[in-house]
Amino acid sequence: MTAAAGPLAEGDRTTVRVGAVAHGGHCVARVDGQVVFVRHALPDEVVTVEITEVHRGFLRGDAVAVLEPAPERVTPPCRYAGPDRCGGCDLQHVGVAGQLAWKESVVREQLLRLGGLSAAEVDALGVQVRALPGGPLGWRTRVRYAVDAADRAGLLKHRSHEVVPVDRCLIAHPAIQQLPVLPPAGGRWPGVDAVEVVASATGDVVVTALPGPTDDARVTDAADAQLTQVAAGRRFEVPTTAFWQVHPAAADTLVDAVLELLDPAPGESAWDLYSGAGLFAAAIAGRTGPTGRITLVESAGPGVAAARRNLADLAQVEVVAARVEHALTRRRITGPVDLVVLDPPRAGAGARVVTAIAAAARRAVAYVACDPAALARDVRTFRELGWTLAQLRGYDCFPMTQHVECVALFIPPGPTS
Ligand SMILES: C[S@@+](CC[C@H](N)C(=O)[O-])C[C@H]1O[C@@H](n2cnc3c(N)ncnc32)[C@H](O)[C@@H]1O
Repeated sequence: MTAAAGPLAEGDRTTVRVGAVAHGGHCVARVDGQVVFVRHALPDEVVTVEITEVHRGFLRGDAVAVLEPAPERVTPPCRYAGPDRCGGCDLQHVGVAGQLAWKESVVREQLLRLGGLSAAEVDALGVQVRALPGGPLGWRTRVRYAVDAADRAGLLKHRSHEVVPVDRCLIAHPAIQQLPVLPPAGGRWPGVDAVEVVASATGDVVVTALPGPTDDARVTDAADAQLTQVAAGRRFEVPTTAFWQVHPAAADTLVDAVLELLDPAPGESAWDLYSGAGLFAAAIAGRTGPTGRITLVESAGPGVAAARRNLADLAQVEVVAARVEHALTRRRITGPVDLVVLDPPRAGAGARVVTAIAAAARRAVAYVACDPAALARDVRTFRELGWTLAQLRGYDCFPMTQHVECVALFIPPGPTS
């Protein structure tokens, strides 16, 4: 269905029946043989699409009117969500159950397309994305506001540097929503590119102006600021410049998943790669006990310092300050090791790191992933090396957005395989 004649151009509108969900926060539609990635739509809806970008081989567009809505469609709770407004959320128009189904379909598609699994193998995994406690709003404990030419803080449009004026972000933690950062209460932020606000799960807050200082009394020196986080039955003092899970329930949820999948036993050895402040190592150490050995590898200075400080009471733990790929290939850490947990950034671990882990790990590997496409590429490498993807669980650590966290369990080839 199309109302336009000839190739579509930016700003054109056309009517389409929307196809399947694709990775990236959009659905796929076809107009006269051209692929259009449509935001703010749901599969099987009939919508009016406005073309926002034209590329060789595909177009991008926004659903600006919905002619036949899907049953999962809801009115976005946030008035800034939608085409040509704030780009922070992708799925405000989708009900909670629909968001979980959306993310399951993305994970399945990545395993099929990039992971090299057959449909039967993906079905056998029974991929499910589980909601975290707390509902879809008020979960984001780290928010970076952009500052516009008039020195007001706001949020960015999708794929744009344009700052959208907002007076509230509904997915931000309540302690962040209450702060006077956004207009009208927030006033102006002269000489600042961005304002980052980080909250602990318990509601303590640090506000940092980026990149440079201003004379505003609310600005905290990011180098010194740290928050107390509680997870895995411990307290962690974490600088706001170091990584910490953004959803207040994510740290405990992911720790539970990793412990359940790896099932560490007393005396076992383990690596926590891309360890941040040492969340998973602390939890594993609780199971492997004083006779186990745990090695963490982390490359960011604040993360290394936090891990050393927070795990100082655990004599069986060593923190290696290095990039994981260097630590493995330059033999700063060497196998064999019983268990590995890795939690790489969005790009994934990559074939070299996966190959080194597969050569060193004896019993099991738990892979925590924030991008299912990168995970799927690494799944392919593990499988090419004879390893089995035994379980894969999804967690909705980022409600209202397209993002999904996965935890995968890999087991090595057995003596007979
Ligand atoms: C997704 S975070 C996970 C942190 C930790 N597992 C947690 O849950 O709190 C990824 C971490 O990897 C670190 N990192 C990124 N690239 C790295 C690399 N090449 N080698 C080692 N660490 C890296 C980042 O600084 C960050 O702390």
